[in-house]
Amino acid sequence: MWYPGHINKAKRKIKEYLKAVDTVLIVLDARAPFATTAFERNIFTGKNILYVLNKADLANKKYTKLWMEKIKETSPVISFSKAESVNKIKGFINSHSKKKLGETRVLIAGVPNVGKSTIINKFSGRKLAKTGMAPGITRGLQWINLGSVKLLDTPGILYSKLFNKDVAAKLLLIGSLPVESIDKYDIITRAYEIFKVELNLDKTFEEFLEEYGKKRGFISKGGNIDFERTKNNLFKAISEGKFGFFTYDKEVALWMQE
Ligand code: GTP
Repeated sequence: MWYPGHINKAKRKIKEYLKAVDTVLIVLDARAPFATTAFERNIFTGKNILYVLNKADLANKKYTKLWMEKIKETSPVISFSKAESVNKIKGFINSHSKKKLGETRVLIAGVPNVGKSTIINKFSGRKLAKTGMAPGITRGLQWINLGSVKLLDTPGILYSKLFNKDVAAKLLLIGSLPVESIDKYDIITRAYEIFKVELNLDKTFEEFLEEYGKKRGFISKGGNIDFERTKNNLFKAISEGKFGFFTYDKEVALWMQE
């Protein structure tokens, strides 16, 4: 349902990148650590896998702590947000490297919008990550030298399996699934149901949208609210934490189960 044409292409690219690395830093969104792991994990078999719970500034701290404890049972993990020093990630990679000093090669991977490019750009000190997506890149991979570690300057974009409506709704709430791409109204209303619990709202989605659109003057010619504009603006605001910092995945027991 979502970027169908891009999925196979992205998979092929990741497989190509994986040949060049031994360590994969999987970036998850701290607000939905389970939903952001809903991709085909077997693609990474044999690699040294490390996790970053990213955008921790937008999540509920209590749940980030619980998720950290849970993930640590199976894999190395750190929490991060873009205001922190990227040396935190560098130290983390170094301390969990399985290679000899100077031989670790790392790929940063994750579903869309979790902050992969932001981390890569912080390491490179300039805007390199976007140019990494140019066709033909795999013929001459670009590396960012972090001293003892080499980081691929190209992020590996993973697409979610979207195995249920809840996963899709949470990906929508954190901005990993573009609202414009969703044609199923039930995913949008499910996302609102999850969101409304955090704010203790008793309004229906239609009532909430009406009020939100009117307040911002998103009115169409007929005098009704401009549904598309209001909906798109609302989900962008939610994903950017404008309503508060919430963790939507609360069941840490879901980790590593499918
Ligand atoms: P794709 O290229 O779609 O795969 O996205 P990406 O994973 O590379 O994410 P990107 O780095 O482009 O970040 C997406 C958005 O999230 C941008 O607007 C960033 O500024 C924002 N962002 C990244 N990291 C953080 C963070 O730690 N906290 C907050 N609040 N925002 C962040």
